[in-house]
Amino acid sequence: MIKNNLLQNKKGIIFGALDEDSIAWQTALQAKEEGAEIILTNFPAALRLGKINDLAKKINAPVIPCDVSSLEEIQNLIEKSTAHFGDSFDFILHSLGMSYNIRKKKEYTNLDYDQYLKTLDVSALSLHKILQTCYDKNALNEFASVVALTFIAAQRTVPNYNDMAEAKAALESIVRNFGYYYGKEKNVRVNSVSQSPSKTNAAQSIENFEAFYKITNEKSPLGNATAADCAKFICMLFSDYTQKVTMQNLYHDGGFSSVGI
Ligand SMILES: NC(=O)c1ccc[n+]([C@@H]2O[C@H](COP(=O)([O-])OP(=O)(O)OC[C@H]3O[C@@H](n4cnc5c(N)ncnc54)[C@H](O)[C@@H]3O)[C@@H](O)[C@H]2O)c1
Repeated sequence: MIKNNLLQNKKGIIFGALDEDSIAWQTALQAKEEGAEIILTNFPAALRLGKINDLAKKINAPVIPCDVSSLEEIQNLIEKSTAHFGDSFDFILHSLGMSYNIRKKKEYTNLDYDQYLKTLDVSALSLHKILQTCYDKNALNEFASVVALTFIAAQRTVPNYNDMAEAKAALESIVRNFGYYYGKEKNVRVNSVSQSPSKTNAAQSIENFEAFYKITNEKSPLGNATAADCAKFICMLFSDYTQKVTMQNLYHDGGFSSVGI
């Protein structure tokens, strides 16, 4: 693991570490290596079924439960985080998502609309709720950096990505729009990282994921980026080296998004 003290004296919240494969898990390890102080969070089911407590011990981070479908739980998380850090903080990683239609194997042409709304709420609106809560409570420092994970299915049709495609399109729009207001108000940066397919728990529930992973790996001149590669890129975005980068959707995909044939 590389180490450049990029995040010395920086503090932040990482959402979405479930197990070692998670992009959030790898980012927490890299951020710790770069000198950051971290709070981990996930929803109660993941705390029971995942391994987040192992990670928490390893990086000496508290775990504060938060189901992002609840605004009250988000508000509680932000209040407890500022209390723990003793002040406002410097970064947030939004590395989470859930499609209830994918889990229930509903086809895109036969969606359950109650589940569709839940997908949008958890996977996209949650970013707005987190940002609005931080904005209201003045919880982020000047030039703080917020990063959300997204996928190229927001721009191009990827069969089987299902209602997550609309969730990612909404997420990227929230990045641009909240990024504008938070930038004007307090120089806070908001960006999304559009990551290669990576073999994580969330990805494995997508039908034909393995075939898709193989195709993007072959098409990308640099091959698919791993979760550990993504973690390094995210730490750079948390760092002071990217203070004027905001409202962007940044492709971290080995070049896949620019390849024609
Ligand atoms: N793996 C990929 O191929 C890939 C590619 C591009 C983008 N992404 C994005 O990366 C992010 C992280 O996913 P991952 O691939 O590391 O998988 P993962 O399964 O490790 O992480 C998903 C996380 O979302 C959390 N989550 C689900 N519902 C929640 C809720 N209601 N409240 C709080 N947390 C909740 C889960 O507990 C889990 O920790 C997601 O936004 C995903 O869409 C993944």
